[in-house]
Amino acid sequence: AADGSGPLPQMGFNNWNSTHCRDEFNEAMIRGIADKFVSLGLKDAGYQYVNIDDCWANWQRDKDGHLQPNPKRFPSGIKALAAYIHSKGLKFGLYSSAGTSTCEPLQENRGFPGGLGHEKDDAASFAAWDVDYLKYDNCNNQKIEATQRYAAMAEALRGSGRTIFFSVCEWGENKPWLWAGKPPIDAGSWRTTGDISDNYASMLKIFKQNVVLDGYASMGHWNDPDMLEVGNGGMTDVEYRSHFSLWSIMNAPLLIGTDLRKIKPDALKILLNKDVIAVNQDPLGVQGKQVSDAGGVHVIVKPLQGGSHAVVVFNETDAAKDIDVSPAQLGLSPGRYTLRDLWAHTDRQGDGTIKGSLAPHATMMYRVSP
Ligand code: GLA
Repeated sequence: AADGSGPLPQMGFNNWNSTHCRDEFNEAMIRGIADKFVSLGLKDAGYQYVNIDDCWANWQRDKDGHLQPNPKRFPSGIKALAAYIHSKGLKFGLYSSAGTSTCEPLQENRGFPGGLGHEKDDAASFAAWDVDYLKYDNCNNQKIEATQRYAAMAEALRGSGRTIFFSVCEWGENKPWLWAGKPPIDAGSWRTTGDISDNYASMLKIFKQNVVLDGYASMGHWNDPDMLEVGNGGMTDVEYRSHFSLWSIMNAPLLIGTDLRKIKPDALKILLNKDVIAVNQDPLGVQGKQVSDAGGVHVIVKPLQGGSHAVVVFNETDAAKDIDVSPAQLGLSPGRYTLRDLWAHTDRQGDGTIKGSLAPHATMMYRVSP
């Protein structure tokens, strides 16, 4: 953050939502994504991490017990891939699981090796490969206590000699918001829910689970309602704008989950909305709070540095709604305010009232400044 107090929500890309384990997930794709970060303006907009998910590894460790990349997908190796991503001024993330194998269902009768019991050795590999970020999943955990499994990897990463961002992917099973952000784990973020799918019902369900957890987020320690589906085709642009607005105001990690080599202009425009990104990355670092949830209309308010507030009004229902939100409902004192519409990029003056008709599944998003 600007005041040096800690990192704002991480921004980047992860291949999972677009490819899962299909063959198209390989080093050519990931290099192509890094190229697109630069050429499409995503790097300039603040997206930084290029992360790879499950199925990057070889089926077996090598004879010395070290992780190896799948030679078909990553013939040049992980260190070379990291070097390519670093050459673009970006950072590189990898995936493993706090279990005996990762989450992808067994193929060829075996799973990909997990980190449980191999924490020091694997952290040493990650550091040697110049990895900047680890997403650490929860599959095949042998029912060993989560705090113990995640602490073992967190400590191994800290002892690796390299600064590696730690993303806990525990799906909210053991309320990670209570422990994952604190020592000895001290993770940068923790998943609060199961996996997102590219449909409105899934996005809505996850939003509702995550929005009530604002009290547990703090600078450098964020609730993670899973990665973005914007651009993957299963929601309308109205729904994707809601998805992006909600994730931004909840200070969620903004990890793009669509194949940027094929992205359509409308989806790209959503991901590049600098007014909305600025809410997520505001230096004050406070997750928005839901101040009202009535009749399927959600109002979320987030304080911003300098005395402004971001406001999202989201209509989850299938019917249009007439919106009339007073400054008092937002916790603002009576006065004159400038309302900036963060999707239309227009300003108007008024008493701070937010009014209008809101289409089904749509969102209004404003910056309200005194
Ligand atoms: C779990 C995680 C997902 C993804 C897959 C990979 O389901 O929650 O985000 O990493 O595993 O297999």
